[in-house]
Amino acid sequence: MIPLVYDQINSWGKDDEFFLALLKKINVKSIADLGCGTGRLTIHFAKAGHEVTAIDPNEEAIEYAKVKESYGDVKWMIGDSTKLRTNAFEAIIMTANVAQVFLTEESWRNVVADAYRALKPGGHFIFDTRNPLAKAWEQWITDTTPDVAKNLLTGEKLEIWTQYEGFVNDVYTFYETVKKADTGEVIIREKMELKFRTQETIHDSLKQASFSQVQVYGDWEFEQATSKAKSFIFHAIK
Ligand SMILES: C[S@@+](CC[C@H](N)C(=O)[O-])C[C@H]1O[C@@H](n2cnc3c(N)ncnc32)[C@H](O)[C@@H]1O
Repeated sequence: MIPLVYDQINSWGKDDEFFLALLKKINVKSIADLGCGTGRLTIHFAKAGHEVTAIDPNEEAIEYAKVKESYGDVKWMIGDSTKLRTNAFEAIIMTANVAQVFLTEESWRNVVADAYRALKPGGHFIFDTRNPLAKAWEQWITDTTPDVAKNLLTGEKLEIWTQYEGFVNDVYTFYETVKKADTGEVIIREKMELKFRTQETIHDSLKQASFSQVQVYGDWEFEQATSKAKSFIFHAIK
């Protein structure tokens, strides 16, 4: 995640609408937005009337988030799931594939256990993750043009180039480089790593953590997931 350009290259989409609609449907007040990043969705959750605790380990992302007008109730925190208060939330949400940043099975088990601990009885744990069977990376590597953005402080034009390394020990690895468009000067280069887990693996981990019901949607239409779905949206109930 590169906060300088993140919002500009991740525009609002059907997935974001889906998360807002799902929270509305389950009618929850207190929510935690875990891995909130720059607060791209967080401020919309607050605007929709949810009381939001928004947590991310990326300090710079939280700084970007804090300056956004929130129209509502947001408590911003730097940290991870260990910071979630116990028995405190009606829903915990992780949007834009945050679930894939947990690279080891231990880190994934820990975040699921923390979510369970932090939810009130009957609370909802909601997150999306890409289906490994859909092999999104095969599409990614065909796009060889850079994304474009602007440094909002200086007005300078920026290009974001992505270099795909592929799977390294079961973790999909790539690099994002932000350059000044005029001079080619590199201003940021960041390694990105994503873990792709199967529907069954995730389902089992939620059950092992004692979640009572697990619903899985495929893509963004509230339909049941099939093995062909590009993404799975998990909705587990404590
Ligand atoms: C793809 S971004 C998604 C940001 C935001 N949820 C959105 O919808 O725009 C992934 C986020 O996960 C955060 N992250 C990385 N490690 C994390 C951890 N251990 N716990 C929680 N969030 C983490 C990153 O800092 C980054 O902001």
